[in-house]
Amino acid sequence: DAAEKSGYDHYMLKEIHEQPRALRQTISGRIDPDAGSVDVEVDLPPEYIASIEEIQIVACGTSNYAGRYAAELLESTVDVRTTVEVASEYEFDGGRDPWRTLVVAVTQSGETADTLSAIRRAKRAGARTLAVTNTLGSTIVRETDDSVFIRAGPEIGVAATKTFASQVATLTLLAVHIGRERGTLPYGRAQELLDSVRQLPNAVQSVLDAEDRVREVAREYVDSDAFFFIGRQLGYPVSLEGALKLKEISYDHAEGFAAGELKHGPLALVTEETPVLALLTDGSRPKETLNNVKEVQARGAPVIGARTDAGDGSSAGAGPGGADASSYVDVDLPVPAIGDLEPLVANVYWQLFAYHVANEKGRPIDRPRNLAKSVTVE
Ligand code: AGP
Repeated sequence: DAAEKSGYDHYMLKEIHEQPRALRQTISGRIDPDAGSVDVEVDLPPEYIASIEEIQIVACGTSNYAGRYAAELLESTVDVRTTVEVASEYEFDGGRDPWRTLVVAVTQSGETADTLSAIRRAKRAGARTLAVTNTLGSTIVRETDDSVFIRAGPEIGVAATKTFASQVATLTLLAVHIGRERGTLPYGRAQELLDSVRQLPNAVQSVLDAEDRVREVAREYVDSDAFFFIGRQLGYPVSLEGALKLKEISYDHAEGFAAGELKHGPLALVTEETPVLALLTDGSRPKETLNNVKEVQARGAPVIGARTDAGDGSSAGAGPGGADASSYVDVDLPVPAIGDLEPLVANVYWQLFAYHVANEKGRPIDRPRNLAKSVTVE
């Protein structure tokens, strides 16, 4: 067992540290930077891609948050309405020609009963289905029209970590592929997105190198009453994911909010005993979120902020009038400036934070109570 964990105390920590390698596998051989094109080995004919009228993503838990991240990118690159639903709530509504709705199931295991059942509903109604999964030979692969593999390698910890990163990276590649095929994604913007994907492994490594700092922060706040994660745009699904990770393994009360929603209710929960973890990177509307940071600080809440590092130690553009976001937060966590995927890199801080809070509490991190790695009942 110890050998399988390669010296780490838990599979979760091992898998958090495996992310640069997993991401390199995800990307390997799939990007042609000169052409601004992508090959994710998917058999979606160009005429089908041109005819897509809607994309519906169905998934549960962490995979659902990966889907939400991707939907933000898909809608702009592919130029069709893209919705994301929790698989257990999904009802297919595909208009006059259901085949023109592409239903994408995102599932690490490929065996989640709720996701399988959603896909079966879509198929029965006549939609085209596509699986984005980590597991060759899984049920979802057999039951969908096409599959794309995220290639993250086996994940043992119940809490999904490296597969979230690889799901978002794969879905970003898929968004570029479909966008280029449809002619809706300009070459320059495709290059930007592909650059962001290619810089991911090194950017994630720089966050992993800061683990000692995150451990200290976790120790400082371990006895808090609750933890709130806030972010906008691409930072919102990452906030939901950060909170899910913390509640799964530490059993603490944690919630993710769209930062702009705080004032519509959740602000009543904010006290000196509720740290707020804020996404202030590019892609998460840092200027607007900084205003929410000030709202929670005025209520005495400590703020742990992940913000873009322009390379000279200052923050890239965040903060009203170019002011430095780092001067507004109690704990300042820098994220390398890589564009659209910065919130995904910041998520690695939230993973490490969740891990070290849970570890301080002595929780059974790889096997949290009441949870299974793959949920095969509806
Ligand atoms: C993630 O940490 C969870 N254990 C859980 O939410 C998981 O992502 C969900 O059950 C979906 O699993 P799947 O990706 O295998 O379909």
